[in-house]
Amino acid sequence: MKADLIVGIQWGDEGKGKIVDRLAQEYDMVCRSQGGHNAGHTIWVDGVKFALHLIPSGVLNPHAINVVGNGVVLCPEAIIKEMVQFENLEGRLFISDKAHLNLPYHALIDQAKERLKGEKAIGTTGKGIGPAYADKINRTGFRAGELLNPTKLCAAIIEYFKQNRDIFDIYEIDTPSEAELLSQLEEYEAKLAPFITDTTQMVWNALDADKRILLEGAQGTMLDIDHGTYPYVTSSATVSAGACTGLGINPKDIGKVTGIVKAYCTRVGNGPFPTEDFGEDGARLGKQGHEFGTTTGRARRCGWFDAIATRYASRLNGCDELALMKLDVLDGFDEVKVCVAYEVDGKEIDYLPSNLEDVTPIYKTFKGWDNSVGARRFEDLPLAAQEYVKVIEEISKTKVGIISTSPERDDTIIL
Ligand code: IMP
Repeated sequence: MKADLIVGIQWGDEGKGKIVDRLAQEYDMVCRSQGGHNAGHTIWVDGVKFALHLIPSGVLNPHAINVVGNGVVLCPEAIIKEMVQFENLEGRLFISDKAHLNLPYHALIDQAKERLKGEKAIGTTGKGIGPAYADKINRTGFRAGELLNPTKLCAAIIEYFKQNRDIFDIYEIDTPSEAELLSQLEEYEAKLAPFITDTTQMVWNALDADKRILLEGAQGTMLDIDHGTYPYVTSSATVSAGACTGLGINPKDIGKVTGIVKAYCTRVGNGPFPTEDFGEDGARLGKQGHEFGTTTGRARRCGWFDAIATRYASRLNGCDELALMKLDVLDGFDEVKVCVAYEVDGKEIDYLPSNLEDVTPIYKTFKGWDNSVGARRFEDLPLAAQEYVKVIEEISKTKVGIISTSPERDDTIIL
């Protein structure tokens, strides 16, 4: 059986958590293939709060196997902290031995680089994601499998510190002594060794055994290292193709692709965001949508739905359908706007250019509505909201298959 994939269509924070949490109950295996603990969502189960950053959402389904794939950058400290929330993870959580390690010095380098960039800072989460992926691509990284031999890994990292001494000095970063590092690595090994394995074979076996597999994307398409708003992006392939390299599956192994979009747009960190609204509407979207980052607590920038960016992202990912999240946040606006084209150098275009810095959005305005909150059937949505959904389908050339009308798991319309 082919694996189903959930992918963010905007700048992350589209509400993937709610959908993945709902769907995870139906799958035998849930896999992460990219990103790291820069991702985050909170899930409430029976009044208990769970914060997930690296562990796939299937952890809340006692019958599902959870895989952290080779494309993830794994911060041992972060995952150990996260694991404490759950009991009996052995046999339910597996970490690829090929996943690259995101070690404490990566976060320090990330933060120092951002400081030096000043106004041009990317606005990263400061979790070491970029430096960890840079080491992977530079072929100077260390992989989770190496944690199984802490003494050998320690010697290799000490050598890395020596070779990169000048860089650590420029960034004024203190590296740990050999004894400190060894004790840290031994602790990681003690806690993580039972979970580290060859997950590629494991995923293949599950595919061959017709298990139901969900691939859980992190961040969003507009943050993709190649196709996003470079350099204001994250350092992984957030598009659906990234799931192949990040897990070791081939494109033919992927079945249904669901793109997650919010009914408006948000972005955290710096970089172009054509439909950002700096006025009252943007502030109101932020307030009504509780738009604060789960990982960093930063206020998210807010603006109107960008149908051109959605069409671009849908094509890039091969979306079969969209899940339209947080439609209820638009309740109470007299009018709502959708970006239907851009203006660049005085010319109107209807596609996403490679550089989004200098585009001006062209909007169509639609009648607003009240009371979509909690609707569970399409017919129960106010007519103007139904119309809004149809406009999004038409311009983005992708059907809307799911609509979310509140944070509650059941306030969801399945079309
Ligand atoms: P990094 O991934 O920490 O390097 O951050 C690079 C950019 O991606 C910054 O603009 C972050 O705010 C953004 N980013 C990273 N992870 C997420 C996420 O999970 N949701 C939304 N934005 C994210």
